[in-house]
Amino acid sequence: MYLFILFCVLFLGPHLVFSETFPEYFKFAVSTSAYQVEGAWNLSGKGPSVWDWYTHTYPEKIADGSNGDIACDSYNKYEEDISFLQDLGVDYYRMSISWPRIFPSGYFNEINLEGVEYYLNLFKLLKAAGIEPLVTLYHWDLPLVYHNMGGWTNPLLADWFGEYARRCYELFGSYVKYWITLNEPQTTCTNAYSYGTFAPGYSLNGVATYICAYVHLLAHAKAYHIYHDEFYAEQQGKVSIVLVTYWGEPNNSSSEADVAAAKNFLQFSMGLLAHPIFIGNWPQVVIDEVDQKSELQGYTRSRLPKFTDEQVAYIKGTADFFGLNYYSTYMISDNTNAAEILYPPSYGTDIKITLGLNSSWPNSASSWLYNVPWGLRKLINWVSNQYNKPEIIITENGYSDDGSSIDDAGRIHYLNGHMCEVLRAISDDGCNVTGYTQWTMMDNFEWNAGYTERFGLIHVDFGSDNRTRTPKSFYEWFKNVVKTNTINCTGF
Ligand SMILES: *[C@@H]1O[C@H](CO)[C@@H](O)[C@H](O)[C@H]1NC(C)=O
Ligand SMILES: *[C@@H]1O[C@H](CO)[C@@H](O)[C@H](O)[C@H]1NC(C)=O
Ligand SMILES: *[C@@H]1O[C@H](CO)[C@@H](O)[C@H](O)[C@H]1NC(C)=O
Ligand SMILES: *[C@@H]1O[C@H](CO)[C@@H](O)[C@H](O)[C@H]1NC(C)=O
Ligand SMILES: *[C@@H]1O[C@H](CO)[C@@H](O)[C@H](O)[C@H]1NC(C)=O
Ligand SMILES: *[C@@H]1O[C@H](CO)[C@@H](O)[C@H](O)[C@H]1NC(C)=O
Repeated sequence: MYLFILFCVLFLGPHLVFSETFPEYFKFAVSTSAYQVEGAWNLSGKGPSVWDWYTHTYPEKIADGSNGDIACDSYNKYEEDISFLQDLGVDYYRMSISWPRIFPSGYFNEINLEGVEYYLNLFKLLKAAGIEPLVTLYHWDLPLVYHNMGGWTNPLLADWFGEYARRCYELFGSYVKYWITLNEPQTTCTNAYSYGTFAPGYSLNGVATYICAYVHLLAHAKAYHIYHDEFYAEQQGKVSIVLVTYWGEPNNSSSEADVAAAKNFLQFSMGLLAHPIFIGNWPQVVIDEVDQKSELQGYTRSRLPKFTDEQVAYIKGTADFFGLNYYSTYMISDNTNAAEILYPPSYGTDIKITLGLNSSWPNSASSWLYNVPWGLRKLINWVSNQYNKPEIIITENGYSDDGSSIDDAGRIHYLNGHMCEVLRAISDDGCNVTGYTQWTMMDNFEWNAGYTERFGLIHVDFGSDNRTRTPKSFYEWFKNVVKTNTINCTGF
């Protein structure tokens, strides 16, 4: 036996011997968010969110003109949802709370007890099913009143968000031990505030981009400190934030300029939010580039808002783990032309890169999503090295189909490859990844793609009043991985 094991290690390599079993402590999960699944947008006392307003006012900005008015109707069908979770055997469920469902005006002078009851019922059922909730406080459905006051460009939102977080810890903290303050600020600050493709549709590229990141960081830190100062002693939970980036691979790894460009890309995308939290202050390259370019552009102050020393200290260290989302990779090339473009100011020309793809990468139903599993392993290693080996939970990773079939071989192929890379990041690279969350439990309202891109492991029939749920092929595949804690990585 001893000789046989030695033989395997020496001649077959570590993958075959170790890599196919996840560590015992490893947790599996699926995820959703409130606006994408709940529906009941104007029922049971809920107030309007920025996404309600945006989809109703500008249906032409959504690929199929749709909205989340009913979505998966999870407000009414959560018991069925939880029975699927139980059948899947997942350890936890990542979901979000809708701020305007429990505080319809956005403020705290009025509480909607029906909304509170909905989440309490959900948490009680999850508990009975032995499933841990991992709860996002804010997954983009901002109460409309705050949008009317500038949304994520108004620094006062940090205080309002802090108060909202406090109320949620009070109301739900006995059930919830894993809190996420904010989901993917990078996506909000680019798509929603720079490019105008997500609600509220602002095109304030290169200016609001950084103000938005600044306000998110202040809001996150406030919610983190409130938990640790007022609730941790009793509730003993963890609080973090979910951050996202594409992996950026140098297009020509022999070119110093491309290697530097890929590093800058990661600092501008991931570092913009992660550096202030895990190291302190903005990444130096962001400060240098944006300050210098703002001056060349004739601004009287930098487009990058600066933190005071107190703010740097207040934001630093406000994460009990690293919530990491990954979907795809870009090849990054240096772009000297962009460096010379002064007007209009933009986040893209601040970074000075060109994004590229490799034609060998399989695409999904989403134009931006390619199957590049090694990008996830490289990103996990990068996060681990940059931020002093934090505990990492993969809080999203997933693949889209077009909804026409429940035979989703493309999804199985994508997720098999990605989960194998997570395993290698743990067993071969020593990164501390403790959980993996598939996006998403069921097909749902996919923001400006409406219902045209489907990420679910369960198909939802949006043409039926019943919103009938039908497991796709991937469902059984994933269920087996969760049950056995092992995965077959041969060929991946
Ligand atoms: C809620 O919105 C729907 C459209 O999604 C509308 O038909 C209905 O009348 C509204 N109900 C209330 C109570 O406002
Ligand atoms: C990336 O590299 C390939 C060759 O490997 C080249 O054809 C392509 O033009 C490069 N892309 C950019 C934007 O430089
Ligand atoms: C990659 O960069 C190196 C160093 O600058 C250069 O010699 C080489 O020609 C480049 N390769 C391609 C395919 O452009
Ligand atoms: C695309 O990826 C393949 C496989 O990794 C690699 O052999 C090829 O050189 C890449 N092509 C470009 C243009 O980078
Ligand atoms: C991973 O992180 C957890 C939580 O912080 C910690 O308890 C554990 O010791 C870490 N494991 C490794 C291998 O660093
Ligand atoms: C409603 O959907 C559930 C699954 O989501 C299914 O089991 C049930 O048969 C459906 N009922 C009708 C009337 O279609």
